[in-house]
Amino acid sequence: MVCILAIETSCDETAAAVVRDRHIESNVIASQISAHKPFGGVVPEVASRAHLQNINGVIATAMAEAHCDWAAIDAIAVTCAPGLVGSLLIGVTAAKTLAMVHHKPLVGIHHLEGHLYASYLAEPTLEPPFLCLLVSGGHTSLIGVYGCGQYQLFGQTRDDAAGEAYDKVARLLGLGYPGGPMMDRLAQSGNPDAFTLPEGNISLANGKVHPYDSSFSGLKTAVARLVSQLRDTHGDNLPVADIAASFQKAVAHALTKRAIAAAVDHGFTTLAIGGGVAANSGLRQYLTAAATPLGIRLIFPPLRLCTDNAAMIGCAAADHVRQGERSPLSLGAKSRLSL
Ligand code: KG4
Ligand code: ZN
Repeated sequence: MVCILAIETSCDETAAAVVRDRHIESNVIASQISAHKPFGGVVPEVASRAHLQNINGVIATAMAEAHCDWAAIDAIAVTCAPGLVGSLLIGVTAAKTLAMVHHKPLVGIHHLEGHLYASYLAEPTLEPPFLCLLVSGGHTSLIGVYGCGQYQLFGQTRDDAAGEAYDKVARLLGLGYPGGPMMDRLAQSGNPDAFTLPEGNISLANGKVHPYDSSFSGLKTAVARLVSQLRDTHGDNLPVADIAASFQKAVAHALTKRAIAAAVDHGFTTLAIGGGVAANSGLRQYLTAAATPLGIRLIFPPLRLCTDNAAMIGCAAADHVRQGERSPLSLGAKSRLSL
């Protein structure tokens, strides 16, 4: 049994958790949504300040809720990349300080590996290999998981992430921040066939389409063009539900097609979904309809584990600690790092 105190501050959530192997003892998140809402998106400077204000309280609450004292902690884990570097630094500095003061090993964790591990928290008996579709505000990736630290990137977005596209289109429609959940709600009362939108294929030199990579910036531009055309005829009375439903259909279809193709081509019988966009009702419907007849098992972790949290970081760290891995106290934060 490995007990981890984990810290996650890569973007706009200040989070700490205590995790025993694949079991959550506490999972505390201080959301910054209200701080960023007036700006329509995450402002890095505002995020760093909020992390600084929240970090000590969040860690203390995570320890208290787990009824945990320092003697029970085997290691301190922290997200060290990728993310907003000013935000990451707050978590990394807190983790290094605690590791030094309490004489605990330090383990730096890649944020995407954390998202992959949310599936283990949701299904503790899950074993690799499995395929993971990671769809968040910063990433859209199809990753084969073969073991702890053994990953193969099959496909990714060439530009905007799926969640980023949701947020940008929501802003275009005047829906506010974060746009994904609002677009999803609207889409459910709209007609997905009202408008035909591109699915963001990537053309290859041989004239074929890349089977797993995607692009969402063209889709966003197509919606911008559509909105400007519709304004000419409808003024401000835009058919927002129909636009949201058509957009959702394009995104969900594009992601489903690629994930199922990668699963079939590489023989995966389990497909786990991670990241904030895993909450999307359209994506869930499309994936379920495509995976069920093929006998592919789907894992949708609960939303609180799909969006940024520290429990997923702790779960990943427990496996690394079991493998004897440690990070030096010189651990730094990196805005970019491949998995
Ligand atoms: O994983 P996450 O919390 O943070 C990142 O690591 O990026 O994902 C946040 C993203 C945002 O872009 C948000 O709009 C999107 O997930 N999102 C959704 C839904 N819920 C959250 N997108 C579409 N439909 C949803 N229901
Ligand atoms: Zn994330």
